[in-house]
Amino acid sequence: LLSVDVANPAHAVSPILPGLMFEDINHSGEGGIYAELVQNRSMMASDTSPVHWSAVGGTTLTLDTATPLNAALNRSLKVALPSGTGAGNRAGVSNDGFWGIPVRPRTTYTARLFAKASRRIGPLTVAMESADGATVYASARISTIGTAFPDRPFELTLRTGADAPVTGDARLTVTTTDPAAAGETLWLQHVSLFPPTYNNRPNGLRIDLMEKLVALKPKFLRFPGGNFLEGNTIATRFNWKNTIGPVWERPGHLDDAWGYWSTDGLGLLEYLHWVEDMRAQPVLAVFAGYTLKGEHVTGAALDPFVQDALDEIEYVTGPVTSTWGAKRAADGHPKPFPLEFVEIGNEDWFDSSGSYDARFTAFHDAIKAKYPHLKLIATTTVTSRTPDLIDEHYYLAPSAAQASTHKYDNRDRASTKVFVGEWAAQEGRPTPDLNAALGDAAWLAGLIRNSDQVLMECYAPLFSHVKNNVWATNLIAYDNQSSYVSPSYWAQQMLTSNLGDTVLPATARALPGLATVATRSGNHLYLAVVNYGTETVDVPVELQGLAKGVKKNARATVLTGPSPTTTNTLTEPDTLAPRSTTVTGAATTFTSTLPPLSVTVLELTLT
Ligand code: AHR
Repeated sequence: LLSVDVANPAHAVSPILPGLMFEDINHSGEGGIYAELVQNRSMMASDTSPVHWSAVGGTTLTLDTATPLNAALNRSLKVALPSGTGAGNRAGVSNDGFWGIPVRPRTTYTARLFAKASRRIGPLTVAMESADGATVYASARISTIGTAFPDRPFELTLRTGADAPVTGDARLTVTTTDPAAAGETLWLQHVSLFPPTYNNRPNGLRIDLMEKLVALKPKFLRFPGGNFLEGNTIATRFNWKNTIGPVWERPGHLDDAWGYWSTDGLGLLEYLHWVEDMRAQPVLAVFAGYTLKGEHVTGAALDPFVQDALDEIEYVTGPVTSTWGAKRAADGHPKPFPLEFVEIGNEDWFDSSGSYDARFTAFHDAIKAKYPHLKLIATTTVTSRTPDLIDEHYYLAPSAAQASTHKYDNRDRASTKVFVGEWAAQEGRPTPDLNAALGDAAWLAGLIRNSDQVLMECYAPLFSHVKNNVWATNLIAYDNQSSYVSPSYWAQQMLTSNLGDTVLPATARALPGLATVATRSGNHLYLAVVNYGTETVDVPVELQGLAKGVKKNARATVLTGPSPTTTNTLTEPDTLAPRSTTVTGAATTFTSTLPPLSVTVLELTLT
């Protein structure tokens, strides 16, 4: 019997419960949500060769450290043009993008690049074309290239026609057929190509991925990691000061946590725009002096990192009259961003030196002194100070996630509140299968039921490129052309979009294999039940304490599939998706029929 006490709410649902966690893992940023289509646009990804760039028309390509663009992009791509360059003999370079450059018909792309040559040449043609160069889908020309890099990049618009294919296999070329270029040298730097972006932001984000996130109505975005924040070494941490300003003045860094180059084009301001576009709030994770290889900074040596965090908070929230607020304004966003939560580090329970307590204290005291209203999140237990929240991470087998639906039920209600900043039931690659989704749903039901304790939660990781799946189980996956969501995405969407503002006590007697949560807003009652068993279950439901009654028509939304391993893929993206129907027969007591392997959310209307 599932008995719901409608009259006596247990507590409010945390108004900031569901959010998102992002870090650049599995090419989540580079080649992922960050919409840049050129890989190694800055020529900084390798010190030894211009990876992802190839010769076109017999050119010779080298990295030229004697010809930097600026202090940050301290080299360029040197292109030796052959003596035969001229009419009918084009010469230049091509870039293969992130596993190809995607093309769509009737689409406008923006190319930006710095170029110069050993003498004035022109025109220089920038084109999106088939991998074999036989078909040009879109092109544009720079009429003349001078002998010095310009102050700002050349900007070109490339528009594909109605007959362009939908393909992920194209390449970008930069070439010339000017006879005057024969035997000369061309230098290129910051060669960038963007498709249309979400909300048309320059240097913005991929539309299909943003739409999938916005549909979840997240309350916050935790960024920039995760291991990506920490780096293997201090030199490869997320150094936010290197991620602001013009993108061609950002050096980038090796994302050595996950094995590829980050241009840091997706930098602090871009994260904040992202948050703004989702109408969410940031959970700003600041580097706290500990790296993945165990380096930890203590004492006075920590001061510059504490100052970096203070400066970062000022960049996000400071008035334009402040030093870093003025920089944000110069970068195009005079209005301060709202900020309530700052996370100090990531997974500092790995710091076997035990230095976190003192490091947290240093950040805590400095931040609270200047920004007393900010809520500070610790990443493991500390004793010297009291954090506002503690971030706990759970990567579990599906069966363990199902069993853990009761994890917080008997928690000491007076202890420090929890932010479950990373969690997932892990089964399936690159995205979870139905079994994992049922584990996720059972676990999330437990978090909602206990959202007086767990104030915030976010699944992780969020994204994987199908061609770079280094972390097995992720919420959403894609290639350069299309994307799909997992059954876990749907389970979360069902539970968090059919959510009242108060939790109702619900007791399930003699119902093994089920997890539940009941919430209410006004006269709407939401009853979520996860059946992770393989049999249909008829559950008697009793609504206690109703003032009047309940309408007999209810809306039932159900996610189910034929087997625990059923899943969605890039080619079969819609195998599993929730279906909503109207069911009749709702009453003060009624029977709900739950299919095997299912998540069901009933929306009942009280009269
Ligand atoms: O989510 C993947 C990784 O798992 C995160 O970077 C890290 O915080 C955790 O160990």
